Amino acid sequence: MKLSPILTTMLISTLNGTFTRAFTRQISHYRAISTQTLLQSSTAAEAPTEETTQQVKTAPPKRILSGVQPTGTIHLGNYLGAIRQWVELQRNSDNEKDESLFCVVDLHAITQPQDPKELGESTLMSAAIYLAAGIDPKKSKVFVQSHVPAHSELGWLLTCVTPMNWLERMIQYKDKADKIAKNGDNSSGVGVGLFTYPVLMAADILLYGATHVPVGEDQRQHLELCRDLVRRFNDKYCKGNAYKKRCKKAGMPTYPVFREPEAMIQKVEGTARVMSLTDGTNKMSKSDANDYSRINVLDDPAVIRDKIKKAKTDAFVGLEWDNAERPEATNLLNIYLAVQPPKEEGGLSKEEIADQVKDMSWGDFKPILAEAVVAHLEPIQKTYKEIRENDTYLNDVLKDGADAANEIALSKVKAARFAMGFAQPSS
Ligand code: TYM
Repeated sequence: MKLSPILTTMLISTLNGTFTRAFTRQISHYRAISTQTLLQSSTAAEAPTEETTQQVKTAPPKRILSGVQPTGTIHLGNYLGAIRQWVELQRNSDNEKDESLFCVVDLHAITQPQDPKELGESTLMSAAIYLAAGIDPKKSKVFVQSHVPAHSELGWLLTCVTPMNWLERMIQYKDKADKIAKNGDNSSGVGVGLFTYPVLMAADILLYGATHVPVGEDQRQHLELCRDLVRRFNDKYCKGNAYKKRCKKAGMPTYPVFREPEAMIQKVEGTARVMSLTDGTNKMSKSDANDYSRINVLDDPAVIRDKIKKAKTDAFVGLEWDNAERPEATNLLNIYLAVQPPKEEGGLSKEEIADQVKDMSWGDFKPILAEAVVAHLEPIQKTYKEIRENDTYLNDVLKDGADAANEIALSKVKAARFAMGFAQPSS
């Protein structure tokens, strides 16, 4: 199992009995360096210098941002569709000026009722899973959305420029509202927060000038809305000589406040939309009342084995991909493919798997799938436990992330306020 340098330091230092001091040093070291780097290039990304203009021609730096809601525990869909892609992007970065920010979007979680006793804990769990899955706080910022007040403020500013009918079209809103109504859980109606949620998501992205947003397929429409909002805001508020004059007078940059982000949808077979274990035509989801419909990243091996054992099957003999009558077979094979170790460690390709399973019964295949999932999640679960045993470490990572995020976000929200014409507070 590979440990991140931070965790290696934690373990070695613990053995030496010097854990706290060494660890505090490590944290302050990367805090100083990484905050500085992020802020330097934040300015560069928005006001290109000669040097960065040169770079734009070769490999433009990416600003990557994404997040997961801390509702319940993170499942295999969130991990394969989003978090694993973040880790790969971090690992395969081809430009040292690339930057990544990953937030736990707790303000989104409260669009549906949350137990105050649990929200804080599930927020920390989510952040720890990001780290355990391979997000390295020396390379990426990890923070909690509610620790950066600019999200709420920009969310409101953008709400005021969003037409109702743009939000009425949102598929996820319609689905969730339908579900709430069907479950008879509609005593106080569908919350306004659920309706305006995609605007807050746009604010999350635009605050950081994100160029790339790695998400699962279900977020594609929200990204389109975000791009529409950029065009609408920039057209309405950041155009014309009057705007330029006002900017010059106030010493503000004259370029448009926001830039259009690009959605990065996971390309690994089937993982942009991992389906439910109990219905291969439905997305694996935290909001499904049946926990047996999903595998959670922190599920015990025995629970994973049991969930896979009870997963929906069909009456066909032999397993195969892409038979329209067999959505469960395609889904479980996609999961099996996605959790394969690297080829050097014995991982199988899609063709090799197709050959391996073509004559298998469900009874033969399910234990093999279960062991592959358990083996894939085991190192993540182990690192997760190590992280959760050290509150100081996690809190320091989140504090460092929030400090860096606050600085970038505040300057962006100030630019948005200025473009909209708010009176500037006297300094
Ligand atoms: P959320 O919390 O529902 O899901 C987090 C991420 O997991 C992906 N995902 C899936 N991918 C594949 N198969 C599935 N079954 C599956 N279920 C979920 C989602 O596409 C997402 O990438 N609105 C977002 C959170 C958010 C956000 C943002 C994302 C808020 N602000 C800014 C990116 C940038 C959401 O509810 O994701």
